[in-house]
Amino acid sequence: MCELYSKQDTLALRRKHIGPSCKVFFAADPIKIVRAQGQYMFDERGEQYLDCINNVAHVGHCHPEVVTAALKQMELLNTNSRFLHDNIVEYARRLSATLPETLSVCYFTNSGSEANDLALRLARQFRGHQDVITLDHAYHGHLSSLIEISPYKFRKGKDVKKEFVHVAPTPDTYRGKYREDHADPAGAYADEVKKIIEEAHNSGRKIAAFIAESMQSCGGQIIPPAGYFQKVAEYVHRAGGVFIADEVQVGFGRVGKHFWSFQMHGEDFVPDIVTMGKPMGNGHPMACVVTTKEIAEAFSSSGMEYFNTYGGNPVSSAIGLAVLNVIESEDLQGNATRVGDYLTELLNKQKAKHTLIGDIRGIGLFIGIDLVKDQQKRTPATDEAQHVIYKMKEKQVLLSADGPHRNVLKIKPPMCFTEEDAKFMVDQLDEILTVVEEAIGARSESVTSENTPCRTKMPNEAHSELLSEGTSDPRENPSRKRNGLCTDKHSLLSKRLKT
Ligand SMILES: Cc1ncc(COP(=O)(O)O)c(C=O)c1O
Repeated sequence: MCELYSKQDTLALRRKHIGPSCKVFFAADPIKIVRAQGQYMFDERGEQYLDCINNVAHVGHCHPEVVTAALKQMELLNTNSRFLHDNIVEYARRLSATLPETLSVCYFTNSGSEANDLALRLARQFRGHQDVITLDHAYHGHLSSLIEISPYKFRKGKDVKKEFVHVAPTPDTYRGKYREDHADPAGAYADEVKKIIEEAHNSGRKIAAFIAESMQSCGGQIIPPAGYFQKVAEYVHRAGGVFIADEVQVGFGRVGKHFWSFQMHGEDFVPDIVTMGKPMGNGHPMACVVTTKEIAEAFSSSGMEYFNTYGGNPVSSAIGLAVLNVIESEDLQGNATRVGDYLTELLNKQKAKHTLIGDIRGIGLFIGIDLVKDQQKRTPATDEAQHVIYKMKEKQVLLSADGPHRNVLKIKPPMCFTEEDAKFMVDQLDEILTVVEEAIGARSESVTSENTPCRTKMPNEAHSELLSEGTSDPRENPSRKRNGLCTDKHSLLSKRLKT
């Protein structure tokens, strides 16, 4: 049985019993998903959606090998890590083998937030310093200790920046302080960190850690310029701090060529602490902190035991092992490279065609489409991005828009995403962008021409209309035929793309 309640009742119960700050995707017209397989999700009517959002379902939703591993271990034993068990040590051994040699000690947790909170404790204990340098727009988790170091959150809420938190500019070479035309953006952004350290020292403060995602996700799919992390690590180490790489979103082979995203920056860059989560258990709540023997020993020297009731339990570890096996046996890293390259190529063709696309950036199956109102000024096209994701949903493709201006379409699908999926997704996007651009173009024409009888709707107006349409029965929409795939337009656009 997939459903207990009608969609309307589910919504009503959710409104009544679930905290209002827990948001749903597509809030104005939420979807109810009742099952999923591979890279597809299905709603209560059996309609299929192409999932471009869920990097958690890393090896594919409900992968049979992962499900079987969970089931088998669940039938046998589940308990905490105070008993000796082979699964936790085997998993730690396998995980360490994916990392540089110095990163060999694991602490298992249940969420990325717990992992980052523990990473901060490790860093602070190691040298006895308190302060943390974080990047602007970063998100590192929902615990109080992490909201404090997440400008993505504290800038939106009423929280003020704590005195022990220092915010460095995001190394964004598209819209940031130093751009692609700068002679040395990596050096310039790293110098900002150096300056922060000097200022902290001048006011008697000491740096415990620099924390950053290896590629910034919520911050707008930002890939730091080559050499940035090496320089930052040098300055942070010199100041007595440690480098924490947050791989919660971007680890486990998503970038294709490397298992960890920080490895893209070269073998001469090794963080002191790596945190991971989301894809690790393919949806099962498991996460981890991996660090050096030296840092782990310093943590232990405090005399305080670290105990986590569920962290590293036999079921989680069995699931983690199954995920590692599938990544390997199905060559999902190779797939991320192949499909990611193909998708990037298709998107770059779209960039040449659509003025709304300002930038395509990404690697493997982690790609951002930065929508702009003005190519020169790079003005974020926030309303348009919101409109596009709702329109994509109508075409049964699930995308989200994020970044500080909510104008970056994020693509981070399950790693079994195929070239066919990529092509389909891009065709739908092409169609939508064409319509939006026509509306914008027609609007500017109508604004510039005198005695215009009527004004073409802005995408956000069209969007509000779409939302009110959303309450009608979508089955009446002819484009929903055959699982919602708009086949005629699809093939027409395919032809256009080939030319
Ligand atoms: C980069 C990053 N770090 C940490 C977290 C927190 O992970 P969790 O939600 O599992 O606590 C998130 C969650 O979105 C994240 O994106």
